[in-house]
Amino acid sequence: MKLYNKKKKIHKPLFIKVIFSIFLLLSVGLSSSAFAQRNNPLEFDPRAPQAGGLIFRAQCATCHGADARGISTIDAPDLTLIWTRSETTDSSVFDIIQQGVSGSIMPPHGFPDTEIWMLVSYLRSVAVGGSVEAFEGNSNRGQQLFTENCSQCHRAQGFGGSLGPSLNSITSRRTQSSLKNSVRAPSSAISRRFKPIEIVTSAGESVTGILKGEDAFSIQIMDSYQQLRAFEKNGITNVRRDLPSLMPVFDQASLSDSELDDILSFLNLSR
Ligand code: HEC
Ligand code: HEC
Repeated sequence: MKLYNKKKKIHKPLFIKVIFSIFLLLSVGLSSSAFAQRNNPLEFDPRAPQAGGLIFRAQCATCHGADARGISTIDAPDLTLIWTRSETTDSSVFDIIQQGVSGSIMPPHGFPDTEIWMLVSYLRSVAVGGSVEAFEGNSNRGQQLFTENCSQCHRAQGFGGSLGPSLNSITSRRTQSSLKNSVRAPSSAISRRFKPIEIVTSAGESVTGILKGEDAFSIQIMDSYQQLRAFEKNGITNVRRDLPSLMPVFDQASLSDSELDDILSFLNLSR
């Protein structure tokens, strides 16, 4: 009887202790990782933006530019504008840097968390507020000009075609000067998912359009009538990818500077 009692007294608390410490470990682990998702632990550290800037220039500048404002020859976004979108948070930017953007050239980065937070601090420090850019144009005139010149290929405010990218909230992703450049010289930086392509089929048909998909056996193209078409590769005799943008060049004669300002003001309504 005595032995049996002793045994029980020793084992029960030990068993509870083990369970409790496993539980404690789990909950600390969970809550600390949940915390890491929410707040930048370096938010108030004045050295973090500077350290992040060094990492940025070594690891990110080849695509995003040394000042994070983008480079005209590479289609990566101006990162000074990302905070103007209401859904952007420190933790969403952390996740993008860590995981990359699948289907794009934005790579995942396996840096230690602290270094990623330094990058987030740096990007905060170069942020441009949405209100810094004033829009000079008249958005009513802009709507009409957009309908006449652009909506055939672009959607904005719920209407338009789809040969070119949707221009909804484009003013929160790109600066006015880079947008003007896209209109005056479309071929200087062709958007990633809108590469032009021309094929000739063995039946002698020539099709020009936007490359929408490609695998070892077939190729999908949105042709200039905005019809999605698929072709077997063994039925294609010639492919050209070095074409200029399918967007026409709008020079001063076809669209004046003030008309372009009007269009940008209209696009800014969907910021
Ligand atoms: C090889 C080129 C390349 C490199 C290197 C690169 N990026 Fe990117 N990044 C891109 C592209 C392209 C996108 C746009 C992806 C998309 O949305 O299709 C992007 C998107 C982003 C975004 C999201 C922007 C938005 O609009 O929300 C962030 C933030 C970002 N990059 C940060 C970084 C940081 C920080 C580094 C360095 C650690 C880095 N990138 C390195 C090409 C690159
Ligand atoms: C015949 C079709 C067509 C017309 C008309 C057209 N575009 Fe485009 N646009 C395109 C295509 C295709 C692209 C993607 C290829 C590229 O970036 O050049 C594009 C790209 C753009 C981009 C870059 C978008 C991004 O995501 O970076 C802007 C800005 C733009 N167009 C504005 C305009 C404006 C403003 C007008 C009217 C003045 C216009 N476009 C008229 C076809 C067109």
